Amino acid sequence: MSEKLPAEPGSAIRQGVVQADAAWRALLEAARRTRDEDGFAPGPDAAEPAANSVRDPHIDAGGGLLVRDSGGRWARGASVPAEAAALLDLYLPVCNARPESPLTVGHLGQSLDGYIATDSGDSNFVTGPANIVHLHRMRALCDAIVVGAGTIASDDPRLTTRLVEGANPVRVVLDPSRRLDARYGVFSDGQAETILICDEQGAANGAESCGLAEVIGVPVDAGRLDLEALLARFAERGLAAVFVEGGGRTVSRFLEAGLLDRLQIAIAPLVTGAGTPGLRLPGCDEMAECLRPAHRVFSMGDDVLFDCDLGAGASPPRGATQQQEQLSRIV
Ligand SMILES: NC(=O)c1ccc[n+]([C@@H]2O[C@H](COP(=O)([O-])OP(=O)(O)OC[C@H]3O[C@@H](n4cnc5c(N)ncnc54)[C@H](OP(=O)(O)O)[C@@H]3O)[C@@H](O)[C@H]2O)c1
Repeated sequence: MSEKLPAEPGSAIRQGVVQADAAWRALLEAARRTRDEDGFAPGPDAAEPAANSVRDPHIDAGGGLLVRDSGGRWARGASVPAEAAALLDLYLPVCNARPESPLTVGHLGQSLDGYIATDSGDSNFVTGPANIVHLHRMRALCDAIVVGAGTIASDDPRLTTRLVEGANPVRVVLDPSRRLDARYGVFSDGQAETILICDEQGAANGAESCGLAEVIGVPVDAGRLDLEALLARFAERGLAAVFVEGGGRTVSRFLEAGLLDRLQIAIAPLVTGAGTPGLRLPGCDEMAECLRPAHRVFSMGDDVLFDCDLGAGASPPRGATQQQEQLSRIV
């Protein structure tokens, strides 16, 4: 008599972790290959997934997690387990960034009432562990991470990838008037290449370094750094994927300048009542004028991540099938 044994407790969870791990390694490998290649020339068999999949047995044990299309862009393979699929979908746009098609992504983690820190500046932590791991993954896939002087002064963050496998990005601090000194960790810990961006005058008059960080001058107009010029400087250095991690003023200025390709807002089930606001932009008079970007929704622990595609135009009408499906994506 045959008897069906009950599934081993925890085995499904373990399997999910293994699949997510394989997906993450495939993404790292895809991003590395995209950046390392000096232009991708698809071979005659580019349409054949098996010939173009990420082949390293350690990252693609199941075969074909990622494949390349005829334009050289990475895409999800045909039969990918659900645990890996959401991860691949979320990060593939970053893997496809290259010098001729760079990508700038802004991220903020905010409370239900729209704040990224309390009134005292405390932001450790607004969002939960899953979103923090997401930040580290974004750092690992991007070439540069950008933060404002306010974030360095308030948090003294390390801006490394210590929670995930993957290299540290170049750390970039926007400090137009050189208000920060070399005591902060990013300028002294030597963990990653670090650049301080200030106005051209400050770079010419001041020291050429801040601790271990290089100082680069960028034009400033009415107190605002010319962010287009900044991205051009990044391009000169081959920094194609740029992650703007905060705070609110910094992400807002990139958004207002029309320089974000994607905007990620993670909302935590938390009410601070007051604090440092997230996005701060000139308001609209009417709802019809408001920015309503196409977006995907990912569940991250207790938090919800809106991943907005600012290059893709407005989203379908509310309640459209596409959005309903996206609500089930769990990373
Ligand atoms: N929850 C989150 O996702 C998150 C993420 C990061 C930080 N935080 C928190 O947010 C707070 C800091 O945010 P914040 O909005 O006050 O400051 P911020 O964005 O970190 O820094 C703003 C400052 O950076 C400089 N800056 C940035 N972009 C500039 C531009 N385009 N042109 C000229 N200067 C520019 C300016 O320095 P000057 O003032 O010297 O001109 C500006 O005041 C902290 O409490 C931190 O803990 C939260």
